[in-house]
Parts: sequence; structure tokens; C-alpha cells
Amino acid sequence: MQLTSLGRDAEDTHPAATSEQTLLAGIFAYLNYHVPRTRREILEVLIKGLHRLEYRGYDSAGVGIDGGNSKEWETNSKSIHLIKQTGKVKALDEEIHKQQDIDLDVEFDVHLGIAHTRWATHGVPSPVNSHPQRSDKNNDFIVIHNGIITNYKDLKKFLASYEFESETDTETIAKLVKYMYDNRENDDITFATLVEQVTQQLEGAFALVFKSVHFPGEAVGSRRGGPLLIGVRSDHKLSTDHIPILYRSSGKDKKTCNTLPRMDEDTCLFPVDEKAVEYYFASDASAVIEHTNRVIFLEDDDIAAVRDGRLSIHRIKRTAGDHPARAIQTLQMELQQIMKGNFSSFMQKEIFEQPESVVNTMRGRVNFENNTVILGGLKDHIKEIQRCRRLIMIACGTSYHAGVATRQVLEELTELPVMVELASDFLDRNTPVFRDDVCFFISQSGETADSLLALRYCKERGALTVGITNTVGSSISRETDCGVHINAGPEIGVASTKAYTSQFVALIMFALLMCDDRISVQPRRREIIQGLKVLPDLIKEVLSLDEEIQKLAAELYQQKSVLIMGRGYHYATCLEGALKIKEITYMHSEGILAGELKHGPLALVDKLMPVIMIIMRDHTYTKCQNALQQVVARQGRPIVICDKEDYETISNSSRTIKVPHCVDCLQGILSVIPLQLLSFHLAVLRGYDCI
Ligand code: UD1
Ligand code: BG6
Repeated sequence: MQLTSLGRDAEDTHPAATSEQTLLAGIFAYLNYHVPRTRREILEVLIKGLHRLEYRGYDSAGVGIDGGNSKEWETNSKSIHLIKQTGKVKALDEEIHKQQDIDLDVEFDVHLGIAHTRWATHGVPSPVNSHPQRSDKNNDFIVIHNGIITNYKDLKKFLASYEFESETDTETIAKLVKYMYDNRENDDITFATLVEQVTQQLEGAFALVFKSVHFPGEAVGSRRGGPLLIGVRSDHKLSTDHIPILYRSSGKDKKTCNTLPRMDEDTCLFPVDEKAVEYYFASDASAVIEHTNRVIFLEDDDIAAVRDGRLSIHRIKRTAGDHPARAIQTLQMELQQIMKGNFSSFMQKEIFEQPESVVNTMRGRVNFENNTVILGGLKDHIKEIQRCRRLIMIACGTSYHAGVATRQVLEELTELPVMVELASDFLDRNTPVFRDDVCFFISQSGETADSLLALRYCKERGALTVGITNTVGSSISRETDCGVHINAGPEIGVASTKAYTSQFVALIMFALLMCDDRISVQPRRREIIQGLKVLPDLIKEVLSLDEEIQKLAAELYQQKSVLIMGRGYHYATCLEGALKIKEITYMHSEGILAGELKHGPLALVDKLMPVIMIIMRDHTYTKCQNALQQVVARQGRPIVICDKEDYETISNSSRTIKVPHCVDCLQGILSVIPLQLLSFHLAVLRGYDCI
């Protein structure tokens, strides 16, 4: 086979494209082994799994199940039935119930169903472009995929003798696995080996699950750059809680042998006494948690295969630093955590969760009695961090704003130079990074491709890498040398809210830890720690402004644009508020540094342009008052977010949103919440579904 030199298509390698796809598409697969389930039950599990992944955003969905209506499983598993639909999962469900040729009451003792929500990157949203993608009209092999295959055009050329039907990159994977099967060296080849041969030819990012009529009741999944986990459910004791990795060859072997090492009692996961077991493959724990809390997170290039109800994991070769086993972890997340509760959307729920989520970030870490901070994840590295040359904060979107928001207090308390970088730009610039730098990666999901690529870039250059992540088990959490889990709980709303305030608090805790032995800063440390103590109550007070902000949204929602101005600690609030408005209301919004007002942006201000200004009683107060005067002089009528006791600003402004006072470097947490609420209400009024 001459596939080794396949190249990359430059036009498709933009990392941003990968990050979008890995974040937005959803994988879910369900395998029942000696657990009898009707086709109806299987489809219900698949549809529910897809519903749990809906929050990621998608434009089409599909399922692949065994076909046939015979009483014999062997007969049914010889054909695969695909049902795909554009639009919501609900539309797919309706399409399923319209199918004339499948009997929903047929029972399967063993069955694999695979399901997917797609966000289009190659080809428009349409049933034919939806997943599962198939190898041929007979559906011999089908596959679901998150990510982007960057060398798909070359693969497509190589597979030219196959008839392609979709515009997707994923279809090449389905064709390639069939090619491998058609050209197999012997009939004993396993499904896992075929998939391994396929993944070796793929470039780009992916999480994949395969199903085939040639391997009935078997599932194979693999990942590179996209998350994939496997949930296990059985009423019986499992053979192991650590699945040993099977290596096809040792790192030293030049030649790869063709068969896998022994797969037996010692190397597979299975229920000991009985055979009954169920497996769930998913790109996200929220899809499996209602079935089981026992999960295995796959690593890049793992091939996980279920055969005869046994799960094995293998890799091509062992490399230094590899963990020799994958542990079954117990997820602490509860279903109710991922449900909307009484709120109309996850975004609204998460905004209102902030009094609790910031407490969870601080729990067990900040001692308000003796003013100390402990971060278990950094304790072994803090001395090294204190000796570093500079701190570099790297992130995307909202997480980047958390870096901007805390930069000043980090500079103050660490006395180190602090750079804050957008991951994509940091990579584009090939930014110089040195061994004595400490690089922070701030990420809610822990999977954002640009942040992950930047992390690998910094690791290669020998810098110490620190994660500030919300997702335990995520790639950034695992690949950083150390870090802090922000413990804000799952963030399901597409617009990040509670993760921002928790990242903010985590970075403040880090700043406090960095200076805990400097006597001169102790009064300042105490002031900030006591500020953290009252923060949850102050957040509640800001949330009580909801109705007032809803009214403001009713006045603004038909406008074309909103400008948000501020400086110092609140510049980040302006950027974050504008991002929230853009992202979910589709209104133009711009965060403007008030210090830059006279250098251009003032030209936009007149009596019609909606302007929000943030003015707080800190070291920038006088300068902000000047900015207010400049805006008023141009007939602007700004809405001012200010301290509720700042009577001067209140009397000088036609409209204010009054928030409680807290220590300067934490005030940004209180100033951003009115803008989170505003963007949410604007989105609702403008008719957008903000999840
Ligand atoms: C840990 C436990 C927590 C427990 C607490 C008790 C985990 C995940 N956390 O919290 O459940 O209540 O001890 O003391 O088991 N890390 C990274 N990169 C990141 C984030 C974290 O490498 O982006 C590392 C840390 O360096 C640490 C580990 O992951 O080794 C856990 O981090 P974190 O959860 O923040 O630690 P603790 O607060 O000690
Ligand atoms: C974007 C999201 O895709 O990713 C933003 O729309 C988010 O809301 C950004 O802030 C970064 O994500 P993460 O998971 O790395 O914090």
C-alpha cells in the first residue's frame, strides 16, 4: 500500500477550523452485550445521548443501527440502516418514526448503534453530508467523526475508484477502512487492526467510532486531538479497574508486526461472572452520565475495541512517558448538574449559579480565618514559578479575557512581567518562549485546539506549563505539567459565563499564593482574601438587578450596535461584555479601552449610539470621569455601570446600573455580571435560542 507519503492541503490546515469542529460536533455510541434491548429502546438511548450533546451546537444529526426485521440477530446484523436528517435532533427522531421498513420491536441481545451531531465544515448541512458516513451503498463500514481530516483531498485521490457521495472529509475515512478490508492480508484481521491502519493514514484532528457488517456487535473508537471517552455499565464486578495497553510493537522494534499481542483475561475489561455489559462511547461525559459514572478517557492514538463484550485498548508502539494502562474513573458529575433546572436556558442557569460556582472554586483552598491560600495542584511547583523570568497567559475567547482581567493584580503581586496572549496569534507569531518562562493555559473545556497547540509549542521549548481548566480529564488538564481545576461544574451554555468568573478567582488565588511570604504585601493580601469571602453575597446582590437589566434590554434590543467603554481592571469587562453580546445576540458590539477614546472611537459617539460605560472608584476613576465628559459632550447618553455608593457618578449620569463595592481587583467580577445578563436578555428578545 502506498499511502505513507500523502500530503496535507494547506488551505485546510487552519487550526481555528479544527478547534471549531472539535468543540461543536458530538459523538455517541451504545453497545449492549447480552443485555436484550428492542430497536426502539436502542434508538431512545441514542437519541437521548444526542440530546445531551445538543448544547455544543450542530446543524444535522444521524444514527446507524443494525437493519433487518428477522427474529435472528445474526441476520439483522448483516445489514446496517442509516437515518440522517438536517436540523434538530427532534427532526431526526421524527424521521426515525417515519421509517416504514424497520420494525422497532425487534429485540437485539447484542447490538452497536452509533449516533452523531454534525457542525458543517466540509459541505453544507444535508442528510448526505451528515454522519454516519459510509463506505459504500451496502453500508459495509460506517463511521462518526469529530474533527477535521486535513489530508482528505489526497486520500480522496488515492481512493478514486470508490464512488463518493458526500462533500465531507469524513467519507474518506469510511472508504479507507473498506479499502483496508478489501486489501487485507488475511481473513483473521481484526476490526481494531483495520482501524489502526486507517488512523495511521489520517492527518488532522479526530475522534472516531466505527461499525461494520463484517464485525457484528463490535465497536472500535480512536482519537487524536478530539476528546473520546467510554462509559461502562454492568451489574457485575468488572475484571479490572485499569485496562492494560496492548502494544503492537515495542518502541525499539523497527518493523511493526501484523497481529496484536494476546487479548485475554489479563488485558481486557469485562464483567467477571456474567456476560452482560453495556458500553457508551461519547465525546462528552454529559452524554453518558445518566447511564454510568464509570468512564475511561482515551488518549491520542489509542484504539479502543469492544469484541465479544470485552474492551481492549491498544497502541502501535510504546513511547517514553506513556501510561501503561487506562484507569476507570468515577465521574463526580450528576445529571442534575447538566440539566437546565428552572431556567429557560443553560446560559441563564449558569449566570445564576455564580454565587455557588465561585465558592466551589475556592472550596478547600482559601482559608478566610488565617488568610492563607493552598492550591494542591501547584504546591510542588510554586518555588519554580516564583523563580521564573515571566508569566505568559495563553487562551482563546472568554478565557483570554480572564487573563486580561487579572493581569494587573498578577503583575502587582508577583512582580513579574505578565504577557496575555490569544493562542492563535501567539502561534502565528512563533513567539519566543524560553525554559525559564511559565506558560498558563486558561480553558473552560480544556480542549480548544489553538490553546492545545500553543501548550505543545511551549512544552517543546522547555517552559513550565500550567493549566487553569474546568474539565478534569481534558487534554489541557492532562498535558500541562501542573495546574488548577476551577471546579465551576459543567458549563453547557455556549456562551461562557460562570467559567469566566471562576477562572478569574483561580488566577487571583494563584497571585495570592505567589506572594504569601512577602511581608510588605500582607495587608493587600488580607484585603483581597476578605474580598473573596464576601464575593458570593455581592454576586447575589448583582443578580438581583436582573429585572432592571431586562427592562434595559427591552430598550436596546432593536439597536444595531452597542459600545462598551472602560479602563484598568474593567477593560476586560468591556471586551467580555462585547463578546457575549456579539456571540449570542448577533448585534454588533465593541469593547473600547476608554484611554483610546480620543484616538478614534469617539467618532462613533452621538445621541443615537448606545454606549455603556464602566466607572468604578479605583485608580482610574478621574480618567473615567473625563471619558464620561467626552461622551456626554458628543451628546452621548451613556448607561453607566458604577459603584452603588458613587453619588457623584450617579448624579452626573442619566442612567446607571448600581453594583456593590468590593476590593478593586475583584470588582471586575461584579461589573461583568450585568453584561452577561444584558446579553442574555437581548438574545431572548431578538428571538435567538441561546441554549
Ligand atoms: C484535588 C482533587 C480534588 C480533591 C482535592 C483534595 C482531582 C482532580 N482533584 O484537588 O477532587 O478534593 O485534591 O485535596 O482529583 N492539573 C494539571 N493541569 C490542569 C489542572 C490540574 O496538571 O489544568 C493537575 C494539578 O497539578 C494536580 C491535579 O491535576 O496535580 C489536580 O488538580 P486540582 O484538582 O486543581 O487539585 P486539588 O485542588 O489539589
Ligand atoms: C469559543 C467559545 O469557541 O471558545 C468561547 O465560543 C470560549 O465562549 C472559547 O471562550 C474558548 O474556550 P475554552 O474552552 O478554551 O475556554
